[in-house]
Amino acid sequence: MHDFVYKNKNLFCENIKVQDLAARFGTPLHIYSYNTLMDHFIKLRKAFSAIQALICYSVKANSNLAILKVLVNLGAGLDIVSGGELFRALKVGCPANKIVYASVGKTEAEIATAITEGILFFNVESLPELMSIDRIACQLGKITRVAIRINPDVEAKTHKFITTGKITNKFGIDLNNAYKILLLRNKFRNVKICGLHIHIGSQITESAPFVAAIKKVADFIRKLESKGISLEYLNIGGGLGIIYANEAPQTAQVYANEVVPLLKSTGLKIIMEPGRFIVGNAGILVTKVLYIKNTPKKKFVIVDGGMNDLIRPALYGAYHNILPLRKISKTEKADVVGPICESGDFLAKERLIANVKEGDYLAVMSAGAYGFSMSSNYNSRLRAAEVMVSKNKVCVIRKRETYADLVRNELLFKAK
Ligand code: LLP
Repeated sequence: MHDFVYKNKNLFCENIKVQDLAARFGTPLHIYSYNTLMDHFIKLRKAFSAIQALICYSVKANSNLAILKVLVNLGAGLDIVSGGELFRALKVGCPANKIVYASVGKTEAEIATAITEGILFFNVESLPELMSIDRIACQLGKITRVAIRINPDVEAKTHKFITTGKITNKFGIDLNNAYKILLLRNKFRNVKICGLHIHIGSQITESAPFVAAIKKVADFIRKLESKGISLEYLNIGGGLGIIYANEAPQTAQVYANEVVPLLKSTGLKIIMEPGRFIVGNAGILVTKVLYIKNTPKKKFVIVDGGMNDLIRPALYGAYHNILPLRKISKTEKADVVGPICESGDFLAKERLIANVKEGDYLAVMSAGAYGFSMSSNYNSRLRAAEVMVSKNKVCVIRKRETYADLVRNELLFKAK
């Protein structure tokens, strides 16, 4: 479900015609629906209400402060992966005890700040990292908490770049080593190991891989208990897939029905870290057609949004539906490409696209997650503006960059 629908042949975001937004704010433009954003969060919370799971929205999916604030106001915690994300989380007033911090490469400074701020726990990805956290906490005279990120070695059945729970991936700690670490838990005087964490990948459309991973950790938790090691939290990560084309992903309720009994059996407090499920279909990227170029072999629809605005097609071959803002029934096969000087700069390849002409607009659908947050200034292009719509109201939640922004931190080299 989302709030981008055609009414009388025009694409609307809630009650506002998208074409009016494009004309008013310019393109490329990220547009978010407040209602869709809230709805997805609430659906997930409802599905997991029996175990009152804490939903820590994964900031990396879309880290705009306005988006974070909406979710924090609804009671979400946040899943962070850097000092920058911690800064954002605190800036929107997320209580520190609702922040969990993953990443294989946390720096000393990032660890120190997170300890000082009193986050709920770190998701620890290696023994050297655990030792580092212990040492830094000792220097700060604090006791801090960690969950061990388990690499459960399961196949997530998704794109290989976004699979994280196979033993060949850089993430987490295998069960044997995790066990050894847990046996040594009292050696880490400034760290309390309070839980386990898993995150097996992203855009996972069926429940089986989640179930397999949770079963493995649930068994592990039972083994730990039999050895007198008791924990407080199980963090089951994110990864819930959404509809980009014709996927039929599990709904929040189906997912919950499958995993809640397993989670209940652990007796632990449950945390989850969804990103894409909450924000993916709450956003679109609107781009303007600059030129139609017909070559002997192909038709190219050249638009003003490129791989710097949405890198998913270039990076993963990801599919995003592309719709005209004003419905056109005639379609033609074309590549939709951006202005960037790379052949990998495409939004769609060999796609039946509405027969648009110069000056028309296209909406790249499902661009709310890993869209703006992965955007860049490549080719010295200005990063796009972002707006949020609620019913008849629109707010700019990020101004379009200016040329001054582009060179703000650059200094000329002085030989002497
Ligand atoms: N927790 C951890 C530890 C993660 O690494 C991630 C995503 C999440 C939660 C949230 O996962 P989600 O619910 O959004 O699937 N750029 C890629 C996706 C990379 C995901 C990275 N980790 C894409 O555009 O498909």
